[in-house]
Amino acid sequence: MKSQHPLKSEPLPVSAFHKAWRAKASRLWLGEIWSLYLHGSVGTGKTYFAELFYREWITPGNLGYFVAPDVLVRHIRDLETWSDYQEYWGRHQYCGKSTLLVLDDVGSHRSTPHLTEQLTMLLLRRHRENSRTIITTNLSVEEFAAAVDPRIASRLQEGEIINTGTKDLRKAT
Ligand SMILES: Nc1ncnc2c1ncn2[C@@H]1O[C@H](COP(=O)(O)OP(=O)(O)O)[C@@H](O)[C@H]1O
Ligand SMILES: [Mg+2]
Repeated sequence: MKSQHPLKSEPLPVSAFHKAWRAKASRLWLGEIWSLYLHGSVGTGKTYFAELFYREWITPGNLGYFVAPDVLVRHIRDLETWSDYQEYWGRHQYCGKSTLLVLDDVGSHRSTPHLTEQLTMLLLRRHRENSRTIITTNLSVEEFAAAVDPRIASRLQEGEIINTGTKDLRKAT
């Protein structure tokens, strides 16, 4: 049976992925780029690939956080003071070179101006600090520019972009 939750399932078949995806991801791994942007339609393996990278990344020296943007923003919204806010960011260490952040499924939840603003601030900072960041989304970079922020979209072009296409792997079996 195919698991919907690769994090909890058997080892992932790295060889199942296209070489070009792995080559782009390895640039992120090496710290040559700050971002890896996976976009394509639903079921094309975006989350699966991001989880594979995340799982390999997490070691005692390498931290990471895998989160859906709406959950991240809900956490931030629940903080009451500036010092709570700083403590939260520090605790999860969203920034810093060795801390990987995976934002899974950006743009698929109902957005609010607050969510967009927080996400933009977070991504601007990560870009500035060259902190490894993976985004999975149904949005093309142009759509991301319109829906989230054009400055981030421009910075994403400095990183690698993987178009995962349209083939729904859930329907492939
Ligand atoms: N390379 C792969 N080999 C085998 N199964 C895969 C692969 N990539 C994805 N899958 C499976 O296909 C389904 C859809 O993948 P998922 O990453 O959730 O898609 P997306 O995030 O693009 O919507 C999942 O059940 C996942 O386990
Ligand atoms: Mg997904």
